[in-house]
Amino acid sequence: KNIAIIMGGYSSEYKISLISGNVVFKYLDKTKYNGYRIHIFKEKWVYVDENDTEFPIDKNDFSTDVNGQKITFDCVFNAIHGSPGEDGLMQAYFELLQIPQTSCDYYQAALTFNKRDLLSVLKPYGIKTATSYYLNKGDLINSEEIVSKVGLPCFVKPNKAGSSFGISKVKTANELPIAIEMAYKEDNEIIIESFLDGTEVSVGVINYKGKVTVLPITEIVSENDFFDYEAKYLGKSQEITPARIPEELTQKVSEIAKRAYEVLKMKGFSRSEFIIVNNEPHMLEMNTIPGLTTESLLPQQAEVAGISLEELFSNAIELALK
Ligand code: DAL
Ligand code: MG
Repeated sequence: KNIAIIMGGYSSEYKISLISGNVVFKYLDKTKYNGYRIHIFKEKWVYVDENDTEFPIDKNDFSTDVNGQKITFDCVFNAIHGSPGEDGLMQAYFELLQIPQTSCDYYQAALTFNKRDLLSVLKPYGIKTATSYYLNKGDLINSEEIVSKVGLPCFVKPNKAGSSFGISKVKTANELPIAIEMAYKEDNEIIIESFLDGTEVSVGVINYKGKVTVLPITEIVSENDFFDYEAKYLGKSQEITPARIPEELTQKVSEIAKRAYEVLKMKGFSRSEFIIVNNEPHMLEMNTIPGLTTESLLPQQAEVAGISLEELFSNAIELALK
């Protein structure tokens, strides 16, 4: 089977995606699959061979032509974080072309990539969240109103982005305008959330051999002010799997992450982030194309569960092909 591993993308996360995509390529079971690295950039969609020679992708049917030979794909392995891989655009495109894909469907991708909408959909199911304030580009910034709603410190985040790009922890009201301006560099919508003082945990939920499976939970201890880009990718954090939390709490947060996956009718990978305050998990977000670099959490969680990367990726492809 020919597997197109799509990587890159149009957002600040493209470099992380290239690493994730190359990890998938490296650990793809070569006895079952032929992997093709496909770079998706605004300027070009190309298949990149072993010698880094590029062959254009025909967007009409997502095929490529290698020296007169047409290559089509049986399945797409999506390793694009951010737009257009994690927000539903690529999902919709492959759905239209009827090419099986490892990620969730376009609707789930679009919904989960929008932090505000995801959390408001999950709230009626008893999933707690931070108090938040929402802004669109061009809206008047009323710092007093923001602070009276979410308090200080608070987090200013682009509503649709990943890898902590554009996120700041704000300690005084006069830092708000700069933080907001920074977040607008990543997205035209902003969510400002109250600071949750507790234990941060990351919970992977995947469909493993047809069964919704919660992976061992990771506890995050950041050396920085929060789990920012540096803490995520440059070693400035401790990531402890399984998390050092009581068994009941492990059960509780696992159950919530699984409920969210099921309520949303998710497929493929997901990794949800929570802050536990007074034994109550509060959800921050859900990632549907979680990082697959060796620094990333989902691969670490799978490993603790006894699932090798090769098996993790084969499982995702097998489920997509069903
Ligand atoms: N957005 C990054 C890649 C993650 O969730 O791991
Ligand atoms: Mg994220």
